[in-house]
Amino acid sequence: MAQPAIAVQDLRKSYDGNTALGGISFEVAEGEVFGLLGPNGAGKTTTVEILEGYRTRDAGDVTVLGFDPGEAPRAFRERIGVVLQQSELVSNLTVRELLRIFAGYYSQRRDVDEVLDLVGLADKKNARIKTLSGGQRRRVDLAVALVGDPDLVFLDEPTTGFDPAARRTAWDMIRSLRSLGKTILLTTHYLDEAQQLADRVAVIRSGAIVRLGTPEELIGAGGPVEIRFRRNGEPIVIETEEPTRALHELTSQALADGRELEQLEVRRPTLEDVYLELVQEEEGEG
Ligand SMILES: Nc1ncnc2c1ncn2[C@@H]1O[C@H](COP(=O)(O)OP(=O)(O)O)[C@@H](O)[C@H]1O
Ligand SMILES: [Mg+2]
Repeated sequence: MAQPAIAVQDLRKSYDGNTALGGISFEVAEGEVFGLLGPNGAGKTTTVEILEGYRTRDAGDVTVLGFDPGEAPRAFRERIGVVLQQSELVSNLTVRELLRIFAGYYSQRRDVDEVLDLVGLADKKNARIKTLSGGQRRRVDLAVALVGDPDLVFLDEPTTGFDPAARRTAWDMIRSLRSLGKTILLTTHYLDEAQQLADRVAVIRSGAIVRLGTPEELIGAGGPVEIRFRRNGEPIVIETEEPTRALHELTSQALADGRELEQLEVRRPTLEDVYLELVQEEEGEG
């Protein structure tokens, strides 16, 4: 098997004695879109910034593109693209000027105008940063991350605060990055975003990974299937781990009795059900 783009083993981090990461482990394959999904304060930014080499770790093994980000050599910096969660941009520069400055940091860089096209900012290239909307600034952030033609892109809550249309556009951009073969580590607290974009998702809460798998696997692990129908107008709900058997029994009986199972429905838990359950567990413990 090829070496993973990111390998994290038992990563730990505390701030003033408060545990932010209690020993997390995961791997991200080359070309994969990996989602870290969790509520505010779960430890997503801490994880990402350790992988980027911007924060130190207390313990654990971390390898990113074959490097230890704690040593953050220049060869490593050149191969990652970073979108900080809240970045301050140089507001008097034009979009194109800013991008040219960042392009100068990289030996292997993409054409500035090509990148502006890719993120949908071609018509804003001569606009000053300070005149841009919030959504347009996030596109500038992404353009900055891409201009060095990185192999691996970190996106920390790339669409937080976006209106629905801007989110769709951002999702399309992230998909086009994926189709360029980039490895992407994405954090989000939006479940639908993880489900839309990520090949695999790690659900993180209170510094621990509580679920890890493809969106389909997370749903599959989500517990019993619900069978619903009505009898004499009264709703009946059956929860079962064996829907095939339960349905067979129900329908055979109904056929034998010459009854119809009114409004028969079989419902699998959605990723949202699974996620809400995890968040509620957290509230219950807190
Ligand atoms: N620089 C810091 N100093 C002290 N505590 C921090 C710092 N950064 C994060 N934390 C704490 O660590 C926990 C995880 O934070 P963070 O990684 O930012 O979570 P997320 O990005 O998932 O919202 C939170 O409890 C947060 O308050
Ligand atoms: Mg964060």
